[in-house]
Amino acid sequence: MNDISGKIAVVTGGAGGIGKALTKALLAEGAKVVVGDVEEPVLDACVKELSDSGAEVSGRVTDVSDKASVDALADYVYDTHGDCHLLFNNAGVAAPSANVWETTPNDWTWVHGVNVMGVIHGIHAFVPRMISSGHEGHVINTSSGDGGISPLPYQSVYASSKAAVSTLTECLDAQLQMEKTNLRASIFYPSGGMLDTGIWTTARNRPAGLEREVDAGPIPTIEQFKEAANAAGMTLEFQDLDELAKHALAGVRNKQFVIMYGHAETEATLKDRAERIGKGELPFDLATLPMM
Ligand SMILES: NC(=O)c1ccc[n+]([C@@H]2O[C@H](COP(=O)([O-])OP(=O)(O)OC[C@H]3O[C@@H](n4cnc5c(N)ncnc54)[C@H](O)[C@@H]3O)[C@@H](O)[C@H]2O)c1
Repeated sequence: MNDISGKIAVVTGGAGGIGKALTKALLAEGAKVVVGDVEEPVLDACVKELSDSGAEVSGRVTDVSDKASVDALADYVYDTHGDCHLLFNNAGVAAPSANVWETTPNDWTWVHGVNVMGVIHGIHAFVPRMISSGHEGHVINTSSGDGGISPLPYQSVYASSKAAVSTLTECLDAQLQMEKTNLRASIFYPSGGMLDTGIWTTARNRPAGLEREVDAGPIPTIEQFKEAANAAGMTLEFQDLDELAKHALAGVRNKQFVIMYGHAETEATLKDRAERIGKGELPFDLATLPMM
């Protein structure tokens, strides 16, 4: 899609963090944006802030883990705008770090419900209508290098959810092309350094009924993480979220399947991974894993 101006875009989890940056970048390019987010006060504040500057943005409270809620979002988009050209399945959450045998059923139900089923619900609710419109369109699924490229072992719940997002998006784009539709799909890997977003306080979105069955202990804040890195003599590089979002839109315009910074480093990681798998080994070096 060369021109995003005037297009109808939907961003799930678009009221905060990377999603809000995507929303702002889309509006800056002249798109009309519908934000679907589960955090109502944050959604309202986001829509107010962005529409005050004259942009065409609206919000719908949406829980992507709930099929009916995502279907209602799609109905709202088609009733209001009559079309959808860009679908960003971006909403995501993370479970506390834990050994796999110490993760809990609710960790898996919640995180896979949002990160995997949330993307599936978005595809089910929008893609058939996007295909039948005949218009050019694009589905962008937010994955993570953690799982989508190679897992951090202490993040099994999150990493496996993002591995699923990457794999299903490969299948989706292949099928959209094989079926000769006017749609394309991409995997977006937020990258370029550390990201200062709400993912650090992700548990705020954990719903009643899916509370962690066992206390996970204190979860580090981003400030504590920065302090630990400084104490270890490391300087953390942070990626500007607005630049990241612009980069994502450039990837959409260029019909890039994998949208990320650092393709060369990823290639090296994947080659090492493939080599280890080829030898029948665990595909990463325990000695060089980043800190928790
Ligand atoms: N922050 C990172 O380091 C990083 C790295 C790679 C990938 N990601 C991915 O980027 C995406 C955005 O995360 P972020 O870092 O901006 O975090 P964030 O917490 O700032 O943003 C997530 C947004 O999703 C919303 N949300 C949560 N649960 C939802 C639900 N059930 N239904 C609808 N909306 C829901 C939140 O309210 C929030 O607005 C996620 O998919 C995340 O996994 C983040």
